Amino acid sequence: MLKGGFKFSRIECRGISKSCVFSKHEVASAVYEGVDYDIVKTTRMTATPSERPYYKKPLLLHEGRKQWLWDHEGRQYLDMFGGIVTVGVGHCHPKIVEAATRQISKLGHTTAIYMHSQYHEYVAKLKKKLPERLNIVHLVNSGTEANELAFLIARLYTGAQEIISLQNCYHGSSLATQAATAMPTMKHPISPLPGFIHVMNPDVYRGLWGGSHCRDSPVLHRAITCECVGNKCIAADNYFHQMENTIKYSLPKSGKIAAFIAESIQGIGGVGQYPKTYLAKVYDFVRSRGGLCIADEVQTGFGRTGDHFWCFEDHNIQPDIVTLAKGIGNGFPMGAVITTSEIAEVLNSAIRVNTYGGNPVACAVGSAVLDVIEEERLQENSKIVGTHLLKQLSTLILDYPAIVGDVRGKGLMIGVELITNPETKEPMPRAQVLEIFEDIKNMGVLIGIGGLDGNIFRIKPPMCVTKENADATVEVIKKALDMYRSRCEENKETVYFVAA
Ligand SMILES: Cc1ncc(COP(=O)(O)O)c(C=O)c1O
Repeated sequence: MLKGGFKFSRIECRGISKSCVFSKHEVASAVYEGVDYDIVKTTRMTATPSERPYYKKPLLLHEGRKQWLWDHEGRQYLDMFGGIVTVGVGHCHPKIVEAATRQISKLGHTTAIYMHSQYHEYVAKLKKKLPERLNIVHLVNSGTEANELAFLIARLYTGAQEIISLQNCYHGSSLATQAATAMPTMKHPISPLPGFIHVMNPDVYRGLWGGSHCRDSPVLHRAITCECVGNKCIAADNYFHQMENTIKYSLPKSGKIAAFIAESIQGIGGVGQYPKTYLAKVYDFVRSRGGLCIADEVQTGFGRTGDHFWCFEDHNIQPDIVTLAKGIGNGFPMGAVITTSEIAEVLNSAIRVNTYGGNPVACAVGSAVLDVIEEERLQENSKIVGTHLLKQLSTLILDYPAIVGDVRGKGLMIGVELITNPETKEPMPRAQVLEIFEDIKNMGVLIGIGGLDGNIFRIKPPMCVTKENADATVEVIKKALDMYRSRCEENKETVYFVAA
């Protein structure tokens, strides 16, 4: 039993100015009485060495509330990463806790061979959030499982094999989803399953074409411009032609595509945003080759990007299959595959069992998540606070031009790309990124890292964060960048300074 309470005279916003104060009212309710830190660390490092925790001294967390986390020594952290974009409505939200507790003390498991009313209530509620034609919901337990099932459905429906995905994408850790993934750091050295083709990432920052105004983001990077004229996005056209060409040369002339899958904004790839009309063009092409279009909303769904509940809506597209996970359960292991009744019909060709998918507790949690997003207007908050945070962060490009290459994203899905040379956009080496990352944590703010070169900070907090939290985050990042710049000057490393 955990007892007592930590006493903080002032929540430690360590090493930064007084104006940056974390909420004084947030304190941990209990003292950590779990297993000794060193024992936990040894177990973790020896039992699952392939799953490496962040930080030189990995965090042992023991309590969370809203956007706050506490470690075993009582240190408080502002969680700006939400357990990898998963805790959408806040840690231990009382409504979620209540829903889970009520359901698990009544009926915790049935599996699909029986019915229970939580399933009915949840599916009805979730369907209301989706376009009417997407009326079949398969509940699963993770994003990987959701995408795996989406591939199966697409292959059965089309009779084709090929799944097309973008370079720099991440779609899961099973064999098929790893084959769809095109991010070398997330792939094991085995022959990938056949039937997967990767096409050029329409990356307007590092790619061949595009400028920051091609992206659907409230921040515009003045230095990245392109040749687009009026509403005609040359970058979208060029990337689309690349995609079309890759498919043309990879498949037999009459070869059909099973599916195209894309994240609506790339997550692990480092908040990659495509030119605004790119996905619509690709969808038309894929359909002309008989394929289905899958929107992976595992990170971007549930209001995170602010304007719409689903980020695919920002692209003006109508997917045939939508896959969900992470924010769907606020940390409870859940996922979903949503499609049309005509497409879903193909699954009737065999008996399908998913022991845990649609579990009563998961359904109760999922239902409560949807209620909280609506009651607390978290989609709106994502837009307001996210836009504020993006605008504040974009000043880093001007203030630290030789360190911060790009700031991008939408709502509370934000990326900050670190470089060492603004002309060449040379990615900052991982070791240096990690130093800054450690400093940010030591000052009390948790963020994530991503991208091919591991040089992109990912900021994707619970959607209940405030403007004050956003300002604190920016101040902490600035301080960490100042510390890095001082270290570089001391070591006489070349830091390029260019006129803003
Ligand atoms: C976009 C995307 N799709 C799929 C997955 C896989 O989800 P899970 O880890 O729940 O299997 C992830 C995980 O990070 C993801 O970011």
